[in-house]
Amino acid sequence: MKSVNIAVIGAGVVGSAFLQQLGSVKSSIKYNLIYLATSKKAVYDKSYSPFEIGQWSSLLQSSVQTPLSPHELTEYLKQSPIPVILVDNTSNETLANSYPLFLKNGVSVATPNKKAFSSSLTLWNDIFAAENTGLCFHEASVGAGLPLISPLKEMVATGDEIQSIEGILSGTLSYIFNEYSTISPNTSKFSDIVKVAKNLGYTEPDPRDDLNGLDVARKVTILARIAGLQVESPTSFSVQSLIPKQLESVESADEYLQKLPDFDHEMEKLKSEAAQEGKVLRFIGKVDVASKKTSVEIAKYDASHPFAALKGSDNVISIKSKRYPNPLIIQGAGAGAEVTAMGVLGDVIKVAERIATVQK
Ligand SMILES: NC(=O)c1ccc[n+]([C@@H]2O[C@H](COP(=O)([O-])OP(=O)(O)OC[C@H]3O[C@@H](n4cnc5c(N)ncnc54)[C@H](OP(=O)(O)O)[C@@H]3O)[C@@H](O)[C@H]2O)c1
Repeated sequence: MKSVNIAVIGAGVVGSAFLQQLGSVKSSIKYNLIYLATSKKAVYDKSYSPFEIGQWSSLLQSSVQTPLSPHELTEYLKQSPIPVILVDNTSNETLANSYPLFLKNGVSVATPNKKAFSSSLTLWNDIFAAENTGLCFHEASVGAGLPLISPLKEMVATGDEIQSIEGILSGTLSYIFNEYSTISPNTSKFSDIVKVAKNLGYTEPDPRDDLNGLDVARKVTILARIAGLQVESPTSFSVQSLIPKQLESVESADEYLQKLPDFDHEMEKLKSEAAQEGKVLRFIGKVDVASKKTSVEIAKYDASHPFAALKGSDNVISIKSKRYPNPLIIQGAGAGAEVTAMGVLGDVIKVAERIATVQK
């Protein structure tokens, strides 16, 4: 039977769902879990003996081992007797910066961590230049489990010309705008909806980390680079922040939420202007390939547009190309443990199908 070794870093929301799915994966390949780490603990042994995936939580709890540094981990994994896939289920920047090192040493990477792909263009180029012996898949770095990156890469590889990409790429901001700016008029206040989103656990602990637009800018950076644009970084283009200037530097999330109602009239003005034109507001990321422009901004859409009918915290992306003059639309849950873990495990299976070897 073909086998592959798996090293997993991160056992939080996505990591624990990933391990659960890995334990019951339906595949002709055998997946041996040989390394598991969180920020403080690790489980592994020098002889690469696989351990029971279903026992990961108790093994981690009782372990006295500490995580290996990226260099130590590379040394350990590159001597694995069978091919190995490193699954990075963290949002750690140091690990992301180490992908070229892993890949150069024949260690493949599957990850939902967008840091590596949306930071400097140099890191992006280093990762894909190093992708010779190791492979790097990151479907869940944009849109969680939604198939976005893989079809986009296939369109490019098979000679389609991407003209534009437009999308609602944040589950949090999707929810906020779907509730705030509706086709039939409502009297909801922006500040109230932000509070509800926080109470539902849809936002980061400080909602400003969603409302500053950086997360969307990172996803736009990834999509634009796949479409062929040399985007320097997620801060190298125009990103509209939804945080009023005066509240950018208030110390706590509580103080921000308390003062936010004072600024409701600003968003209300945009909402009523849109409503007068029969439109709704949505917070979108945009890539215009011909003009080489990327942006993150509030935009207005007709009631008949697919973005206007979005529900809950769904993501949606519209890709216009030479082959798809009527845009290709992909829509669905863009966050959540199960779907994100599915995206990561899907990548693991794709990599394993290419690199797994028969174990004697
Ligand atoms: N949650 C979603 O719906 C979603 C959707 C799409 C993409 N993602 C991406 O998926 C990744 C994981 O998200 P999450 O929601 O699962 O985060 P999380 O719940 O905060 O879990 C992060 C895990 O990574 C571990 N970790 C952090 N730094 C580490 C380090 N230096 N070395 C080893 N382990 C480290 C943490 O360990 P400790 O507990 O010891 O700190 C924890 O187990 C992120 O990149 C996120 O952007 C998440």
